[in-house]
Amino acid sequence: MGAGRAEIVIAGRLFLDGAFSQASLGITDGKIVSIAKVLQGDRVLDVGDAWVLPGLVDLHVHFREPGLTHKEDFRSGTTAAAVGGVTTVLEMPNTLPPTTTPEAAIAKRERAARSALVDFGIYGGVVPGSDLAALCAQVSALKVYAGRSTGGLLLRTEGFAGVFSQPLPVPIAVHAEDEGILEEHLTDDGPSDLVSHDHSRPAEAELAAVRHILATRPRQVHIAHLSEPRTLELLASTSHTCEVTPSHLLLHTGMESLGTAAKMNPPIRSKAVRDRLWELYLQGALPIVASDHAPHAVQEKGMPFATAPSGINGVETMGPLLLHRLRHDGLDAARIIDSLTSNPAKAFGLAKGRLQVGADADILIIEPSASRTIKGSGLHGKCPQTPFEGAQGLFPSVVLVRGTTVVEGGEPVGAPGTGRFVRPSGPLGARGR
Ligand code: DOR
Ligand code: ZN
Repeated sequence: MGAGRAEIVIAGRLFLDGAFSQASLGITDGKIVSIAKVLQGDRVLDVGDAWVLPGLVDLHVHFREPGLTHKEDFRSGTTAAAVGGVTTVLEMPNTLPPTTTPEAAIAKRERAARSALVDFGIYGGVVPGSDLAALCAQVSALKVYAGRSTGGLLLRTEGFAGVFSQPLPVPIAVHAEDEGILEEHLTDDGPSDLVSHDHSRPAEAELAAVRHILATRPRQVHIAHLSEPRTLELLASTSHTCEVTPSHLLLHTGMESLGTAAKMNPPIRSKAVRDRLWELYLQGALPIVASDHAPHAVQEKGMPFATAPSGINGVETMGPLLLHRLRHDGLDAARIIDSLTSNPAKAFGLAKGRLQVGADADILIIEPSASRTIKGSGLHGKCPQTPFEGAQGLFPSVVLVRGTTVVEGGEPVGAPGTGRFVRPSGPLGARGR
């Protein structure tokens, strides 16, 4: 925790190793260079009792570029991320073209590098016949769709063994809904509401997909957007990781009036399931939260329920919703903050998510009494629809990405091109603190 004069010093309530303590942090050349009670700096920002947190790490966003940029693009998506305190995103491969080849991955990285306000990794999509070694060399992680969803990428069960049992240099995440079970339940008319959507893509599809994956004796997998508590039992006593979304933690099918705003795959479930997932989250059994930010144009979400696309806006509201609850419901600070920062970073081997000397200076300043009402029309992505309309959110006032200010006074000020490509640099799959 060396001293010495830093370019920028931030003094406040620092979240260090799982607890808050009043201290100062020095930043030089975009890195945290010192942490001590008192520090000297060229520019000193004394934020008093305000929280100083590591930037949030979101392992699951869809920014739709290239090809679907009427829904979102790297600039709009990373602006929304920054305002919500997310300083590292991992972006999904179901774009047009999909990110299933090294060439597509390189092209996507170049576009993102020009436009992103926050650091980004990209997923390569695994399809039958994928050259995994070549793809892995250009991406930050791999994604397998075990069941159909937006974009039509699919790897059927027969293809699992050849993928999951291999040693891979990057993490592999799975959309775990078994295609066979989905086929049995999907009807020509499609679901008419949240309850029938839940029934049309039942929890059994998730359980079956995870059982099939585990049967291949996988090296290390990450289950995306877990929606069913029993899935956790299948993962117990393995080193595999999973993430849960704020949508599955906070929404349920009884909230009928949300309609298509809460339509996603895997579906949000009943209130009883939602309550159980929340309880497991508070107990630390679900240590990673990811947004599954999957925006669509408002006209698309305005279609009848059966035909409206699945996907919920979320990168901007994920942190604020949970940080508001942490502050107002007296939740365990380490559990909530780690689930948004160090735990996802650790699972994917990313050198992010902690305030420590040597780390990138990805930093949030949050005034804990400054919660405000979430309004879709005030969000910074292209889709102004959110199922969390009217909920309270605790947003950061200042966000730094490697020492560069991208949010000030809660508003985006960062330049496109600030964000850099990230890849795993550590071991994969650790479950958290
Ligand atoms: O709801 C979803 N939307 N689930 C997915 O698997 C894909 C995503 C999207 O890309 O729209
Ligand atoms: Zn997704």
